[in-house]
Order: sequence, then structure tokens, then C-alpha cells
Amino acid sequence: SGDPLVLGIESSCDETGVALVRGNDLLFDAVASSMEEHARFGGIIPEVASRAHLEAMIPTIERALAEADVDLTEVDAIAVTAGPGLVGPLTVGTSAAKALSIGLGKPLYGVNHVIGHACVDQLVDGAFPDRVMALVVSGGHSSLLLVDDVATDVTELGSTLDDAAGEAFDKVGRLLGLPYPGGPHVDRLAREGDPTAIRFPRGLTARKDQERHAHDFSFSGLKTAVARWVEARTDAGQAIPVEDVCASFAEAVADVLTAKTIAACRRHDVDTLVIGGGFSANSQLREMAAKRCAEAGIDLRIPPIRYCTDNGAMIAALGSAVVRAGVAPSALDIPVDSSMP
Ligand code: KG4
Ligand code: ZN
Repeated sequence: SGDPLVLGIESSCDETGVALVRGNDLLFDAVASSMEEHARFGGIIPEVASRAHLEAMIPTIERALAEADVDLTEVDAIAVTAGPGLVGPLTVGTSAAKALSIGLGKPLYGVNHVIGHACVDQLVDGAFPDRVMALVVSGGHSSLLLVDDVATDVTELGSTLDDAAGEAFDKVGRLLGLPYPGGPHVDRLAREGDPTAIRFPRGLTARKDQERHAHDFSFSGLKTAVARWVEARTDAGQAIPVEDVCASFAEAVADVLTAKTIAACRRHDVDTLVIGGGFSANSQLREMAAKRCAEAGIDLRIPPIRYCTDNGAMIAALGSAVVRAGVAPSALDIPVDSSMP
């Protein structure tokens, strides 16, 4: 097609991602992860992640080009995550992108990582309709976005006031003694438990929160409630029904995420919902979203997991949308913005 060929670079957290996209077609997506290194520390240490990006960046760019059978000189534009994320890791990616932009004489586009998580769905399920709702849930973010144009018109309706959904799962995993990251383990155990066993609180769903925080999330109260429940049982010398705790906790998270998201779709007259971010792997969320969207007549789009976790395709996809929308390129001294809204 006549669409520009966009090279996308992602390095906001622990994955080094590089992909090539033309229009909404993905040519190749290469990812190198440093998660194994972080698992040893039980969390991501920014300095360790920065060094891993530095080592992986050029080999990952070379691999993406080779696998896509593209010569660097054919690239029309460079897109890179400018934020939000960790400053050191972001700086490695933007530095690589700036170098390519200068070397090739091709425009640079700094883009928003969270919007990328929504945009990547277009590579899988086709161009967005006029208006979509996007729920982006991961270890770092839980945001509800109203997308009128993914390149130029995205409104954040709400976000988490404290922990992200994945983060809450990881913390519950830790307090139950599960390995890091705990999210997938809590999910697995939850599938064996009774989701109605314990009634855990649903954050920001009380009537008083309906106006100011209608579209915001809060999971730290829930996490504390789980900790208290487990402590009380332990103090009383009773065994912990781990599967039931996980199932009841996961049910509370999925309930709040889906109820608030569908209410937002209704309020803003949207009938397509995209879910993205690494937490969209969560079975309880997937099941409840599928059921409730079907009931509400909402078309649900969730890309395959490898496009939900951090990757280069999401950034190349957003770069492609931005270039096609005619947005002006970024200045070569574009800063990274760790808390980009
Ligand atoms: O997007 P992602 O790979 O990394 C970022 O945080 O950007 O998301 C990973 C997060 C972690 O908190 C992980 O524990 C959680 O998502 N997660 C899950 C599941 N798979 C990943 N949480 C619950 N259930 C899962 N199946
Ligand atoms: Zn992410």
C-alpha cells in the first residue's frame, strides 16, 4: 500500500520491543524481555532494566528488520514511547529513536505508551469505529480511555487512584507467598476457588463516589481487606483457603473493572470496547467482560496476549496512526515524560 513504513520502539518498562508497521499491517514484532532478571529481585529495578535495554536495543532493531526483510533505508518514520514509564528505560529507547531519525533523515514521533496499548488492537481486529472505549490494565496502569481518534483525540475518563490491577494481584500474590509476579498464580488458583466465598469490598462504587470518581478505580483498600482477612485467620490458627481467597479477590477486581467500564460505555454512547495491557490475560476479567458485554450489546475486542503485554507493535501501530493523521513530528530534543498523562 502507499502507507508509510513505521518503525516503532518500546522501552518504558522491562520489554525492549521493536516492530515494523505499514498502515494497520504488522510486518514483524521483535521483543526481548528482562523479566527473568527482575524475578530474581522480586521487582523491577530501573537501573537493571536500563542496562538490559541498552544491551538489547540494537540486536532487537536488527532482528526486526531482518525478519521483516526490510532495509533500514526503507523506513519512513520512527515512533518511540516518550512516556509514561521509567525514565532510564525510556531514555534508552528515545535515544535510539533519535539516532535513527538523525541518521536516516526521517521524522521522529514520540507517542504515549498507554494509548499504544489500545491502538495495537487495530493490527488484529481492523480499524476502530468512530468511537471506542479502551480499558488499559497492566502492572503499571489501569486507565479508561474514550477514543474518538486514536492519533489526535483521546480522553482519559478515569484511572486508578492507587494500585494498578496487575499490581494489586502481585501484592496479593506476595502476601499469599506466591512467586513474583503473582498475578498469573493468583489467576490460576482463583479458577479452583469459590468467587462468592468471601465478600471483599468494591472500591469507589459507593453512591458518594458515583459523581467525582465514576470512572476511577481503587484497589488498595481491597488488597488491605485481603491482608486483614488472611491475618485474622492466621492469628486464629486456622488454615487459609487460598483458592477461595484468590477467587473472591479476583471476582471483586473483575466486577469493578467491568461494571465501571460498561457504565462508561453507556454514558458516552459507545458500543465497542477494547481491553489491552498485560492484565487483560486475567481469566476472571476476560470471562466477566465477555458475559457483561454480550448482555449490554457491546462489541468486545481483546488482542492476543502477546500484543497486550508491552511490545513494539503497539508503538509502531500508534506511530502509523499519527503519521497518517498528519500530526507534526516531534522535535529531536523531545524529553521523556515518566508520568505522561
Ligand atoms: O503489561 P504488563 O506485561 O507489564 C506492565 O505492567 O506494563 O502487565 C503485567 C502485569 C503484572 O502485574 C502481572 O502480574 C499481571 O499483569 N498479570 C496478571 C495475569 N497475567 C499478567 N494478573 C492477573 N492474572 C493474569 N492472568
Ligand atoms: Zn504497558
